[in-house]
Amino acid sequence: QVAANMTVVDAAELAGRLPRRGTFSHKGTYGHALLLAGSKGKIGAAVLAARASLHGGAGLLTLAVPAVGYAVAQTAVPEAMCLPDDAKNHLTTLPDLQPYAAVGMGPGIGQHDDTRAVLEELLCTAPAHKVPLVLDADALNLLGANRPLLDLLPPDTVLTPHPKEFERLTQPARNDYHRLELLRDFASRYRCYVVLKGAYSCTATPEGHLYFNTTGNPGLATGGTGDVLTGLLTALRADQRLSPLDATLLAVYAHGRAADLAVVHTGQAGLTAGALPHYIGVALQELT
Ligand code: APR
Ligand code: MG
Repeated sequence: QVAANMTVVDAAELAGRLPRRGTFSHKGTYGHALLLAGSKGKIGAAVLAARASLHGGAGLLTLAVPAVGYAVAQTAVPEAMCLPDDAKNHLTTLPDLQPYAAVGMGPGIGQHDDTRAVLEELLCTAPAHKVPLVLDADALNLLGANRPLLDLLPPDTVLTPHPKEFERLTQPARNDYHRLELLRDFASRYRCYVVLKGAYSCTATPEGHLYFNTTGNPGLATGGTGDVLTGLLTALRADQRLSPLDATLLAVYAHGRAADLAVVHTGQAGLTAGALPHYIGVALQELT
């Protein structure tokens, strides 16, 4: 049964969950985030996620991309440090995790077997560094295609599948209610937070609670908006002041709110993923 343990997430529900940036705070307060993103032809996904991390308040950001993305990353996101992979077109190496407060992996990475190996090493080494993970897009598709890896998911990992990606992780849903049951079961079984994306994105917790988001609009139905959520969420997971649940609910809400603010200027059809990060700061500010 899905009826019990559900919460609608509006501004009132989030009141008090996002601390103000203190007068004497510094880069270290907000954490050093690492994004593993991009492959040949999809470096844009890395750029979008990186910009969202920065607009989401990351103290420091490092972006790991295949070599082909190095000049692009340094030019398009000068605020981020860049770790170019030795390989030209896809990620093959996991950086030392020691410096990082959170790691996001997935936007545009493709599904090369070398990249699967990077994901596997990330899952195995993150717990020793106590570094929280955000997994999206092809990181989820790699998990879906290699199901035994799911047993390596560190507790409190946040996964952000759209319905097709979620189906690859589990099974086809008979209907929307069945999909929510599968979502709750998956989050409980793997002790993780799972954001099933779409209109009214639903976050399931390890305890089996479901949170329905209330922001966002059909303008978000355009390529790259998911990558923006991944970047924002990784930044909030790096913020040492936020719990995994609060970081997740705040990111999903602010992402949708940024879209609601943006379409006043762009219209829904005119909303691009690249425009979204500019509204993230205001969306977050409204919650403080
Ligand atoms: N109403 C509100 N929000 C919406 C709507 C809608 N009608 N449609 C989409 N969204 C939001 C989702 O909640 C999510 O936050 O837009 C975002 C879309 O994310 P994704 O589905 O991941 O789409 P995208 O960013 O284009 O993904 C890029 O990654 O997941 C892969 O296969 C995917 O190639 C694609 C790439
Ligand atoms: Mg996506």
